[in-house]
Amino acid sequence: MDLASLLDRIAFDVEADDARGKVADYIPALARVDPDRFGMAVAELDGTVYGVGDWRQPFSIQSMSKVFTLALVLAQAEGADLWDRVGREPSGDPFNSLVQLEHEDGIPRNPFINAGALVVTDELARYGDAAEELLTFLRKESGTPTLAFDAEVATSEAEHADRNRALAYFMAAYGNMRHPVPEVLDQYVRQCAISMSCADLARSSLFLARHGIRNDGSRLLGQSEAKRVNAVMLTCGTYDAAGQFAYRVGLPAKSGVGGGILAIVPGRCTVCVWSPGLDKRGNSVAGATALDLFTTLTGWSIF
Ligand code: DON
Repeated sequence: MDLASLLDRIAFDVEADDARGKVADYIPALARVDPDRFGMAVAELDGTVYGVGDWRQPFSIQSMSKVFTLALVLAQAEGADLWDRVGREPSGDPFNSLVQLEHEDGIPRNPFINAGALVVTDELARYGDAAEELLTFLRKESGTPTLAFDAEVATSEAEHADRNRALAYFMAAYGNMRHPVPEVLDQYVRQCAISMSCADLARSSLFLARHGIRNDGSRLLGQSEAKRVNAVMLTCGTYDAAGQFAYRVGLPAKSGVGGGILAIVPGRCTVCVWSPGLDKRGNSVAGATALDLFTTLTGWSIF
């Protein structure tokens, strides 16, 4: 497979289609991003990365951070404790919804909706500042030591975080928060405000394509844990559009409202695409189209 030519072809087709969606504006600092940006990168198991368009341009990773914080918690000896506090079912509701929490005694449906991700951050905070732990891991895996938090995005999100604050306090009322809510929220908004490029994200997630093995050859997750993270990505990684996304693309994936989508082809490669225009569910419109084309043209789906 000539991946460089394949990416050129996908970028050409995506650019010819003017459906772009709408840039997220509930975090004001995100609303300033140019909706016409498009980048895509593929990382092979040996670390070789191919890219097209804005594949080296950093953007706000937002909810894509949730894959990595989940993996970092599961990598701990007590990692499985997490599953007493968060489920593994698709929610069918928007990523920031509160409605299921009351019926389900403060246990979020899965680690990729905001409520579940707040629990994951709270678990990771047992070992230090969750956002710092994440940044250290991502700098190492991406090979980009300059990766950083975007302070403007973090501040902007913190100023508009009433829903997340409400989710966290509601879970605290059920005894499902270990740390004080303001601490967890601060770490959560900073983890979401890390800026990375498609190339950085594709390289950093290779452990999921290598059944748990990091870029330096050490093991982060056992083979079964890596399978489980991929499975939860497939069923819950694109929120209440996970069924439609699995139908179209057929890969485990995680999206973020910064417009990125990260997809894993276990045993073969990782793919990251970025285009800031989102659909109503919060997934990148051009990103989903590009991944649909990718699996159609290569046949590299898990199905
Ligand atoms: O919690 C929030 O609202 C954002 N920091 C992250 C949301 C997000 O990316 C969900 N994505 N589709």
